[in-house]
Amino acid sequence: MKRGGVRKIAGVLGSIAAFAAQWGGSSIYRPGQCILQFPPRIYLRPCASGYLSGNRKPPGGKRRKFLERSAAEGPTGPGDKFRKQLDMPSRARFHFSAAFDSFRNATMGRKAMKAESKERSACPPGTAGGRISRRGFLKGAALGAPLVLAASGGVGGATVVSTAQKKLAALGGPQAVPRGLRKGWPLITEEEKAAVMKVLERGVLWGTGAPETRALEKEWAEFIGTKHCIATNGGTAALHMGVAAAGIEPGDEVITCAYSWLATASCIVHHNGIPRFVDIQPRTFNIDPAKIEEKITPRTRAIIPVHLFGLPADMDEVKAIAKKHNLIVIEDACQSHGAMYKGKRAGNLADMAAFSLNATKNLPGGEGGLFNTNGDEYADRADALRMFNEIELNPHFRGRNFSEFGWNYRTQEFTAAFTRPRIKRLDAENAVRQANAAYLTKHLSQIKGVIPPYVPSDRTHVYHMYRIRLNAAGLGLSVDARTFRRKVQRALSAEGVPVGGWKAQPIPSQNLFRLKVGYGKGCPWSCPHSHREVVYLGEDYPETLKMLGDSLVMGSALYPPNGIELMKHYVNAFEKVFGDMDQLMRVSA
Ligand SMILES: Cc1ncc(COP(=O)(O)O)c(C=O)c1O
Repeated sequence: MKRGGVRKIAGVLGSIAAFAAQWGGSSIYRPGQCILQFPPRIYLRPCASGYLSGNRKPPGGKRRKFLERSAAEGPTGPGDKFRKQLDMPSRARFHFSAAFDSFRNATMGRKAMKAESKERSACPPGTAGGRISRRGFLKGAALGAPLVLAASGGVGGATVVSTAQKKLAALGGPQAVPRGLRKGWPLITEEEKAAVMKVLERGVLWGTGAPETRALEKEWAEFIGTKHCIATNGGTAALHMGVAAAGIEPGDEVITCAYSWLATASCIVHHNGIPRFVDIQPRTFNIDPAKIEEKITPRTRAIIPVHLFGLPADMDEVKAIAKKHNLIVIEDACQSHGAMYKGKRAGNLADMAAFSLNATKNLPGGEGGLFNTNGDEYADRADALRMFNEIELNPHFRGRNFSEFGWNYRTQEFTAAFTRPRIKRLDAENAVRQANAAYLTKHLSQIKGVIPPYVPSDRTHVYHMYRIRLNAAGLGLSVDARTFRRKVQRALSAEGVPVGGWKAQPIPSQNLFRLKVGYGKGCPWSCPHSHREVVYLGEDYPETLKMLGDSLVMGSALYPPNGIELMKHYVNAFEKVFGDMDQLMRVSA
């Protein structure tokens, strides 16, 4: 047989293999790249409009005309004619089309091949090196892996491969983020397993003086830099201990942030205090210090700023106001384990602090909490409250006459043992979150309509959550911010990006406050010690409402072991969603 004939047969067989492998694998098309397959017959490259085109004829020839037309219209090559006639699902249509083109090219003459190779070398810099060896091809085919080779690692400036690939997942297109890539949280290692087993073997399961609990308190106090740490059974318990230790009495007012988890405010009501809310600062999402003083009354006793999502609040400003009005400051640090503010850890920035150890947190212990303070008196009071206010423990005789309320906020040895090894890993794990967030911020800031989180230079963010804002008006869209956010949320979720809203209302809008349900019968607001009517209305917190209307949150997706590889896919998905407003507007809100 002639050499040309052998080549053609080899090419045809290769095409069939390519077709089969493509069918079996999920192809990842990287943006702005030449994508090359072996045998060197399918040669796909990005066109101006973002579609990949079969590319066989020398520039300037008839074929080029076709490419230009197809780039505008969206088809991927001559195989399109057939795939359109056959009513195949989009993904299958794409592969069929590519395989058809492959077959066609395999039968192409030597002259045309030369022209193709010439044009291949005209790929944009850094993208033409995407050749795949015959061995690589066969290996890929054997694994059923994608036969598309991304020539460069960059994702920014993504170009979607085909009409089918470009179609939003929410409208029936393929999902941008491969399924199963994201790893869940918390990551549990052999160290934690061994630590918990040790508790079982030791047989000491509880007690404020139990060895794991004591060791956890010592290690966390050292990590944060405070004199005391008291382990509790939740962040809410730790916050309540702070409120009680601050000496809050019925009717006393405590100022806090209008946006947080409910416990930030309900811990005040737990002690018959009256919460007074302050709107958020729109860039940091934390309490706006400029609006605190207008909420201070003669009954105000304390402020609870929250380091929301892992970013410390403006503590210098908050503390200056507190000092001026003689108020106690309790940090709600439940979301900010390890974050730094002007060189100090969150949790060591005020009179007292509370951390949560629930399983979603950067320092997860299953369930649990930690209370930190440098004040001996605060520590004594909080410690008493943790265990029924049993103040004078006598090892020989426990016959105290309890004179003040206390609770049972003790933790247990399993939580303490599980948490301790994680303290050693916390900074490293936060560094992964920070690297992931930095990658997202770098790329998302280039997408018109997306505003990544802001981090003032005097503090670090530990990204318990990564909150972005959306700017529909900036895109020239007439759709309202909320509808746009919902469309984006649906579109991104369908692409495999886990985005949500987190808490959908300001805390004062919750019925508990709005209707003053409280303990029933209007208590504690109706208590005679509560000196005046307090009205809670969501609309009094316009920045919070605005933020809720135009922002989205990503949580544990940024947590280790997830890394840049997953972030690249997320950026890809964002670029896909924001790359075609016509499609996005068709996504139901
Ligand atoms: C800001 C904030 N405060 C308080 C809490 C309460 O912590 P826990 O669930 O451990 O009681 C949480 C937990 O979700 C929180 O995120």
